[in-house]
Amino acid sequence: MPMRYLEKARGLDAGDDLRHYRQQFHLPAEGIYLDGNSLGAASDQALECLHRVIDEWKHLLIRGWTAARNPWFTLCEELAALSVPLVGAREGNVAIANSTTINLHHLLTSFFAPTEDRTLIVADTLNFPSDLYALAGQLHLRGLLPQEHLLLVPSEDGRTIEEDAVATILSPRVALVLLPSVLYRSGQLLDIPFLVEAAHRQGALIGFDLSHSVGVVGHQLSEWGVDFAFWCNYKYVSGGPGAPAGLFVHERHKDRLPGLPGWWGSEKSVQFAMEPTFVPAPDAGRWQVGTPPILSAAPLLGALKLLGDAGIDRIRSKSLSLTSLLIDLADDVLGACDFVVGTPREGSRRGGHVALEHPAAWQLTQALLSQGIVPDFRPPNVIRLAPSPLYNTHEDICCVVSALERLVRSGAYLQFDPQPRVVT
Ligand SMILES: Cc1ncc(COP(=O)(O)O)c(C=O)c1O
Repeated sequence: MPMRYLEKARGLDAGDDLRHYRQQFHLPAEGIYLDGNSLGAASDQALECLHRVIDEWKHLLIRGWTAARNPWFTLCEELAALSVPLVGAREGNVAIANSTTINLHHLLTSFFAPTEDRTLIVADTLNFPSDLYALAGQLHLRGLLPQEHLLLVPSEDGRTIEEDAVATILSPRVALVLLPSVLYRSGQLLDIPFLVEAAHRQGALIGFDLSHSVGVVGHQLSEWGVDFAFWCNYKYVSGGPGAPAGLFVHERHKDRLPGLPGWWGSEKSVQFAMEPTFVPAPDAGRWQVGTPPILSAAPLLGALKLLGDAGIDRIRSKSLSLTSLLIDLADDVLGACDFVVGTPREGSRRGGHVALEHPAAWQLTQALLSQGIVPDFRPPNVIRLAPSPLYNTHEDICCVVSALERLVRSGAYLQFDPQPRVVT
């Protein structure tokens, strides 16, 4: 690794105005954590909120619903308000509830309303499998065969989806389009405003899975006119494993009713009136269903406050700086070791992680793990490296690239079993 890269990285770290956040995260004492796009690290703020709720449970018992510092009854409303700036929504257009996949199902119950002439759903071949399962399931529920009614936009290179290819497949027979903001494997960031325009021109509704962009890329969902969106809070948001997920419903759909109503979606003032008829909350809160998992929601309060404090624009700009350095190093240092960058090079076309492709990606992942460096592997040949702007440094990037270079040049990775096993 040329010395100039290390010097450059150190210079960038010295001038990084987010660097003090690193001390607030719990990271391995030795090694480097680069898996924030699977499970974000725990922050002091998140853990404090969790411990406080545990104490409140011990001491307040049932009174915690109303007497806790952040009353549990309205905790998810607080979390939703803190999430608004992350997705560029208007107040009241976000809810925190359920899990990611359940939110997709729930939104589809209301947003996928096929008519005789419009029965098609458009998604893409590289979409996260759970989303595709949900789309197929929702088609089945309406007596429609996915083989006929789910159109998957193909990928030319197996890594990326061309926005024009989505526009080309659209027609007046398409009822709904569902795409990721950032593709989970390659890290490609799609042009959301372009896609919204293309879908609406054909009279279709469009939703986005923001799981790989929320907390690391800014959004303007309301301004862009996105109909609905959903995301998880355990990746870049660092809300903890299984944190309740997020959803967005555009203002223009505020009168739509949830297809899976439950009492937690009630207008708060009448929820405990226990009337047999559902009175929905006036905002996206109506998409909640049952009692929220308060212990899982608690860390999210600290995590979202921390993100709000750091600011999504600063986070995005550092993320681009980290991934630019990684791509430059991958080209310059790792290119000769059979690595290929599978992520678009333009900053405007990539999210927070970089996909390095290598024929021995699985073995190299195991070798990195044995040295305390935590990437993740996506079959068949991708090592995903996700530097989190709040706790990774430019020097971390140099270290991981050096480690990969040494492993390939020495052949040390060959001692690991080449057969991929259970992956996370
Ligand atoms: C892009 C994307 N969508 C959906 C999911 C599924 O999320 P959940 O398991 O929270 O339902 C994941 C999980 O990692 C994901 O990465």
